[in-house]
Amino acid sequence: MSKPESVTDTPIRYFREQPFQAADVPSPAEREELMARIREQLKARDAVLVAHYYTDGDLQILADETGGCVSDSLEMARFGYEHPASTVVVAGVRFMGETAKILSPEKRVLMPTLEATCSLDIGCPADEFSDFCDQHPDRVVVVYANTSAAVKARADWVVTSSIAVDVVRHLHDQGEKILWGPDKYLGDYIRRETGADMVLWDGSCIVHEEFKGVELERLREEYPQARVLVHPESPAAVVDQADVVGSTSQLLKAVQTLDADTFIVATDKGIFHKMHELAPGKTLLEAPTAGRSATCTSCAHCPWMAMNGLRNLAHVLETGDQEIHVDPAVAEKALVSLNRMLAFGQQQKRPVLGTGDA
Ligand code: 13P
Ligand code: SF4
Repeated sequence: MSKPESVTDTPIRYFREQPFQAADVPSPAEREELMARIREQLKARDAVLVAHYYTDGDLQILADETGGCVSDSLEMARFGYEHPASTVVVAGVRFMGETAKILSPEKRVLMPTLEATCSLDIGCPADEFSDFCDQHPDRVVVVYANTSAAVKARADWVVTSSIAVDVVRHLHDQGEKILWGPDKYLGDYIRRETGADMVLWDGSCIVHEEFKGVELERLREEYPQARVLVHPESPAAVVDQADVVGSTSQLLKAVQTLDADTFIVATDKGIFHKMHELAPGKTLLEAPTAGRSATCTSCAHCPWMAMNGLRNLAHVLETGDQEIHVDPAVAEKALVSLNRMLAFGQQQKRPVLGTGDA
């Protein structure tokens, strides 16, 4: 079962209509000045910076330095919720800001730009997803965190990539059938791992979808000693060659703990900042996104994550611009499915650590 025809081209239409703009790179002098202003503003505004591993290295440095957190999307949600600051600044993409707001409605949640979204979110409009759910009333609705608040509100469970397999296995063990959305590759991976009966929405991540199985095989032949780390938003031909499949935090853990010197990494290349920091001396190779089986050359970097920069971060802290708002009625429903995930993670005592946990 796949999504309705009309949704298929939604992300492509969106790109044509809203060309995105990566944040400018400031000069070295301006960089220093912006970083000083941001440090000062975070203190003055009782704000904490929570950044995703795919964002610019300077934002990650600032988050770490100022007592914030750099992590995967599950840990970003948990950290923002538990931190006492009255303002949470989320450097990442929109669903991450919305999740922070849903979990902490009393806090002010700012983002460097509200334009930063995600192809999975765009490709899963709430009304069409809701129709899809209505067609399968016998199934438990499990959605990926990379969705709008309205889609989360329609779901029974929200999961991130670090916990998705465990949640679906748990539901499968209870005899439940699953409706999964929106990432078809992650859904397929979960189905193969758990054996659960799943129908999938037909969405994808435009970054991970570009990793190529055939070219990865060639690179592995060149580096037979390398271990392969893959984010499960990647196609099966890539996932099937992995030594470790996992969320961004899980891949970071693997690079530190596996007994190998060389790694081929199939995820957004923003993660190399933290990988180099945590595993200095290890050789990290980008998994191929181009080559004979590619239709175009991809840079393996999320265009929306790239919209977060020092200038727009300083601007929102100084002006309060780009604040996230979520309709309280929608947020109340979305909170139920988000809290199921957090409670499940808590029960399992999952060591999902971001750098703010030190
Ligand atoms: P993580 O939950 O692994 O951080 O993934 C979020 C994401 O958007 C990956 O593309
Ligand atoms: Fe969405 Fe892919 Fe960007 Fe992650 S990398 S935010 S899944 S488009």
